[in-house]
Amino acid sequence: MGELKGKKIILGVTGGVAAYKAAELTRLLVKAGASVHVVLTEGGAHFVTPVTFQALSGHRVWADLWDPRMGNNMAHIDLSRDADLIVVAPATADVMARLAQGQCDDLLTTLCLARDCPLLVAPAMNRQMWEHPATQRSVAQLVGDGVTVLGPDAGEQACGEVGYGRMLEPEVLYEALAAHFQPKRLAGRKVVITAGPTFEAIDPVRGITNSSSGKMGYALARVCAQAGAEVVLVSGPVALPTPYGVARVDVASAQQMHAAVFANLDAADVFIGVAAVADYRPADAAEHKLKKSGEAMTLSLVPNPDILADVAALPNAPFCVGFAAESRDLDTYAEGKRRNKKVPMIVGNLVQDALGSDDNQVVIYDAAGRHPVPRGAKDALALRIVEHLGRLLVAA
Ligand code: C5P
Repeated sequence: MGELKGKKIILGVTGGVAAYKAAELTRLLVKAGASVHVVLTEGGAHFVTPVTFQALSGHRVWADLWDPRMGNNMAHIDLSRDADLIVVAPATADVMARLAQGQCDDLLTTLCLARDCPLLVAPAMNRQMWEHPATQRSVAQLVGDGVTVLGPDAGEQACGEVGYGRMLEPEVLYEALAAHFQPKRLAGRKVVITAGPTFEAIDPVRGITNSSSGKMGYALARVCAQAGAEVVLVSGPVALPTPYGVARVDVASAQQMHAAVFANLDAADVFIGVAAVADYRPADAAEHKLKKSGEAMTLSLVPNPDILADVAALPNAPFCVGFAAESRDLDTYAEGKRRNKKVPMIVGNLVQDALGSDDNQVVIYDAAGRHPVPRGAKDALALRIVEHLGRLLVAA
């Protein structure tokens, strides 16, 4: 993701079993073009060795406040100089307590105190340690001091207990860091997005569906959340994880999607219809599995509601963005759709360019004309689309 390219990130790794996840976080950040400098505490080094982080980050790992490798012996100043962000993952109860008190008895805590950049911490600890009033006091103090606390998650823990205290997964932390660098173009806005296909039942085991991976809609949901929006993602059946900070509502049929969208439209500023909604559904879904007779069979289909057109027709409609996947004459069909559905913005693409792949090529159509977007990964395109949307919203 472009936001992380060239950013200098200091990753503090403290002594928790989740330290192994910090290795994957390092890899993801480096892959995105960030320069990652790992500071490993004594406890952290009990779980993962410096060699792992050195190999993944391509930089020497720092552990000691008195490390003679630092030119002027001021590792705490030199390391944090020019840093764009410090993230401590995993953050133990101990490091959070020391950070909350402003203690600086090792390199990491000294760096945090001497920093001139944002500090984010990803707690990881046993459920009871997390719930302890002392830890909660540390969290409250850190938040009050402007530190961002990412997580923790709930679930099964290494100690065998179940509850809050698991560190967020590396992919989720990565998203949160990317979000940190994204301009908050949609701050204070509520965005409702549809994504994926719909599934129209014929009987309990069969149905009609469209081919759609959901990747474009999910990428948009992620980028809108990173841009500061409150996001509700109404999703058809797809095999994708929910983006960080997004509220997801799962549906199957077009009618369910229509109902879920309208149930969440209250105070929405933007509606983005990315879903490949089935235009028709079987008139009557059979209650039991249909048996094959060997004879030809006719299915009676009835039209589904057009969710985008219905939202756009509301008296106080949110700003509506539609998608048009065409196999030819993109300009004519996409611009035609924009006018027919009475929406201010349509994102068009040729199906042969996109389906299922991570890349796509799109053209944005609005009242000012057509705006081709260079071919790119769906995540990068989502960013361009949200930038365009942000400009139109300001002008609206
Ligand atoms: O008419 P067509 O299906 O090509 O229009 C595509 C746009 O309309 C997409 O934004 C899609 O999500 C939306 N749509 C909808 N409900 C339908 C059909 C399409 O919201 N029943």
